[in-house]
Amino acid sequence: MASYYPEELINEIIMANDLVDVIAGYVQLKKAGRSYKGLCPFHNEKTPSFTVSQEKQLYHCFGCGEGGSVIQFIEKIENLDFVETIQFLAQRAGIQLPEGNEKADDSAFYAKKKKMLEMYRHTARFYVDILYGEAGKPGRDYLVQRGLDVKTAKHFGLGYAPDKFDECVRFLKGKGYDEALIEEAGLARQGKNGKYYDFFRGRLMVPIIDIRGNVIAFGGRILDDGQPKYLNSPDTPIFNKNKTLFAFNFAKRYCSEQIIVAEGYMDVIALHRAGFQNAVATLGTAITSNHVGMLARYTKEVVLCYDSDDAGRKATERALELLQRVNIRTKVLHVTDAKDPDEFIKKKGAQGFARLLGKSENSMMYQVGELKKQYDLGNLEEKIEFLNELAKLFAKVSNPIEREILVREAAAESGVSEDAIFAQIRENQYNIEKNRNNEIERAKNRQLVQNRVQHKDIQTELYEGMLANLICTDKQVYLAMRERAETDFFKTPAAHNFMQKVYQQWDSGQVPDMPLILGQMEAEQAREISVAASRELPYADNVKAAEDIFQTIEGRRKNAQAAQIGSAEELDKLLKSLKK
Ligand code: GTP
Ligand code: MN
Repeated sequence: MASYYPEELINEIIMANDLVDVIAGYVQLKKAGRSYKGLCPFHNEKTPSFTVSQEKQLYHCFGCGEGGSVIQFIEKIENLDFVETIQFLAQRAGIQLPEGNEKADDSAFYAKKKKMLEMYRHTARFYVDILYGEAGKPGRDYLVQRGLDVKTAKHFGLGYAPDKFDECVRFLKGKGYDEALIEEAGLARQGKNGKYYDFFRGRLMVPIIDIRGNVIAFGGRILDDGQPKYLNSPDTPIFNKNKTLFAFNFAKRYCSEQIIVAEGYMDVIALHRAGFQNAVATLGTAITSNHVGMLARYTKEVVLCYDSDDAGRKATERALELLQRVNIRTKVLHVTDAKDPDEFIKKKGAQGFARLLGKSENSMMYQVGELKKQYDLGNLEEKIEFLNELAKLFAKVSNPIEREILVREAAAESGVSEDAIFAQIRENQYNIEKNRNNEIERAKNRQLVQNRVQHKDIQTELYEGMLANLICTDKQVYLAMRERAETDFFKTPAAHNFMQKVYQQWDSGQVPDMPLILGQMEAEQAREISVAASRELPYADNVKAAEDIFQTIEGRRKNAQAAQIGSAEELDKLLKSLKK
């Protein structure tokens, strides 16, 4: 892996970040024997299968198979690349990183991202300067028209893109950026005549800022009722709208108890100004599972605060669907007497909004209400249909107390007995469980087919990983195996790479440090090794266990050569099961 910092420094950074400590910032961990356990942050689960070993400085989830060292954990959970992860962990441990010693060929992609971030910072400054300068009058008039004061505008870094052909492009070229990069960053377009022109023209500019405080994109609001109303930066190497929430850079400090998710930039700006600094918005898209993952890590409760129109209701439904898959309390706030929170606050003020917030409804109650609207409950057939749908909804509620309360209310209101509703719920739960099992079965078969097609023997791979782990952690095993299990004995790329480093270190008189080695490997390979490391060994005696695993691997290889792996009929059967 191309690394941009010296290896010793990377090692120092890994050692300065205790894995249990780091993970405890994201997952509630409980001590279980010699390791810690918690709910896996990478998949949705109700019983903890996520294990962290302090001793080995490794984590592993038995549910979804994720695993590795502190590097892989941060890469995955913060969605960072390797270099960014090193920077993140260095900052966390208070370690100073050297500046400006990059080797261009080492990480061209990283260098490009860095350049784009710089470019966005200059551009944001450029738009702000214009807003408050001579050419900014239209923008300032628009602020007044929308009732926005200068203090708020400055807080959010609002700016104005002049209605000129290429003013921003020329400004950036003056700073030394070339046109192709300006275009790739989404700040310019190339016309038919080959000339580059500004992407944003004649718009109020709202900078979108990531969690580390970098401007990574813009939303541009047209000043009249032209189209499109908002123009957003396209996705670029530094911006992915499916993973970004507007104003999260501010909200992250205020949202540990509750976060408000609105639809629009202007709603969020109005909310923050009214004192609700825990408000964010998606960027003109529906909420995604990435957003939900982010929310689940930072807050206990999500309040959906969408527009009061049909589109808002649809967006609420979709968001609830995703939010219900993670363990996060969700409420729905109804904006009344106004089309959106911005307009509401203008009419009723911060106190009015606080009242709405207090009245926001449990998401399940909201869904029951929406469902009820679709049926005529005076009609017997429709009533039965309604109860069926209701039972489907309640079947998703995992908390039995909450479920009981819901059933009691539904029974009282519909005149059907509680028992009848419960029976219906059980039926639905059974179906959900059955579907899930079928899905798991199909996924397993898919994996099997893939392995057969690629002639992979998963079990042998696992044994290789286990043996590699033993050689790494126990000097006696190293001494016993060094001659027989050479690096080339290990056929899987993960174990092979891993063993190369392990032997290097043992041979030169050092004790190999597994997390350090894994930290320098590719995430997928590190995962394989750490999965194997967490397997139970056949004996308490490591040398004996290694011997046994070694023999098993050799035996399996001989057998595999003798018999072709998997018969054609068997493969055919598996393929058929996938088509079901
Ligand atoms: P105003 O108050 O009219 O300025 O807008 P708003 O903030 O209330 O936004 P609205 O409810 O109309 O839309 C919600 C969000 O959807 C906006 O903040 C944008 O992110 C996005 N959006 C709205 N209109 C457009 C559009 O024409 N194109 C794109 N790409 N996004 C849009
Ligand atoms: Mn609005």
